Amino acid sequence: MSSHSESRRTFLKSAALASVGAAIVPLPAFPSWGSLRADDRIRIGLVGCGGRGTGAALQALNADTGVVLVAMGDAFRDRLESSLANLLKEPIKDRVDVPSERQFVGIDSIDQVLPLVDVVLLCSTPGFRPEQLAKAVAAGKHIFCEKPVCVDAPGYRSVLASAREAKAKGLSLASGFCWRSASPERAIYGEILGGTLGEVVSVHATYLTGPLGTKTRQPGWSDLDFQMRNWQHFNWLSGDHLVEQAVHSVDKINWAMGGRHPTRCTAIGSRYCREDMPERGDIYDNFTCTWEYEHGPRCVLMTRQQANCFNLNDDWVNGTKGYAWVNGWGPTHWIKDYAGKTIWSYPKDGAVPDMYQVEHNTLFKAIRDGRPINEGEFMADSCMMAIMGRMAAYSGQRLTWEDAINSNEVLRPTSMDGSIPILKAPKPGQTGVKA
Ligand SMILES: NC(=O)c1ccc[n+]([C@@H]2O[C@H](COP(=O)([O-])OP(=O)(O)OC[C@H]3O[C@@H](n4cnc5c(N)ncnc54)[C@H](O)[C@@H]3O)[C@@H](O)[C@H]2O)c1
Repeated sequence: MSSHSESRRTFLKSAALASVGAAIVPLPAFPSWGSLRADDRIRIGLVGCGGRGTGAALQALNADTGVVLVAMGDAFRDRLESSLANLLKEPIKDRVDVPSERQFVGIDSIDQVLPLVDVVLLCSTPGFRPEQLAKAVAAGKHIFCEKPVCVDAPGYRSVLASAREAKAKGLSLASGFCWRSASPERAIYGEILGGTLGEVVSVHATYLTGPLGTKTRQPGWSDLDFQMRNWQHFNWLSGDHLVEQAVHSVDKINWAMGGRHPTRCTAIGSRYCREDMPERGDIYDNFTCTWEYEHGPRCVLMTRQQANCFNLNDDWVNGTKGYAWVNGWGPTHWIKDYAGKTIWSYPKDGAVPDMYQVEHNTLFKAIRDGRPINEGEFMADSCMMAIMGRMAAYSGQRLTWEDAINSNEVLRPTSMDGSIPILKAPKPGQTGVKA
């Protein structure tokens, strides 16, 4: 089957092309970190040219007029080409300089992108992220790293190690946890951490949405191609929807808790409404998780991807003196005391700059100024909390943080060539989930 894998096959072709291309287009030596002169170009590369990656490239180009997109890599040529075509329609098109010899196709295309750039945008599917991050740090590149950053505990440990190495090397590492860059969220979590509602005693969060789309298997697709085209539905690629999507809410819990680690997690979940079809992979469609903290607080998240149901995305943060409401769908956040009096609210006319743009403005300013930022710890911890929730739900067991982070369960198939079976969604209490 491996010879039928587009992602494998095209990688081999692109590797050959890359060695020719690299010889044809030598790029001048460029400092990978430290202060840059204002007229210096910052060469960026995009790995994972889907919807988010295209957006991230655009934001990076808009963040600094010296940024030039010089290389792109994707598992699939059609994804790379449509991303490039979209970028070439934008006002920044003059700084999109990606000729065919700097377009790389295949699951290891990052290897061709890294030598050509100063900054890499890691926007592929999450299952590959820890390895890609490790490669980027080893190559001495500044990094924008989309969430989630890992799908299992070995990935978490790898990301933490990469984040430490990035810090030691003076590299910037920015995360795609975009709410951390949103003005209304920064304002209200600033109030929460500053004690406006007293000590946080609990958080109740919701991420209730509909199912995501699927792609029908096409003739010639290998198992790998098929699963990667439907990556959100496969645990080894996405980490399940709790880790892939609702991790934004988990991150806000982590934020409200000041980055403390939970000590235990109990969770329930199931695959109740998802159709039993290959495109729908092996993931659940609902989870409810409770993370317990040593000093008392309990934080609960309900999440589902089910059609025709009530949708909601908000966070209630309860404190000893008051409680906060964070509206995931609009900047109408407030904090009240227990008499019902509003003691803080986000100004109705408050500016709300695009959080995705702010992420990149912050990263590229840090690079320009030679003052590296490093968001590695919280981005890894938030993902690990979500992984812990998934492990607790799948197994039906109450897990400690230590159980979860020391797990040696690796989700990626041992071989990505040939047949990659579609696993059955685990049954709590029946399917062993290795801790
Ligand atoms: N921060 C946010 O608000 C936000 C929003 C959407 C998506 N995301 C995250 O961004 C990431 C990408 O999501 P998307 O919506 O763009 O998905 P997408 O399917 O549109 O794009 C992913 C791309 O990565 C490519 N890819 C997969 N494996 C690869 C590999 N090994 N090397 C190179 N390319 C590879 C795929 O072919 C695809 O083109 C995910 O982690 C997702 O969770 C974040």
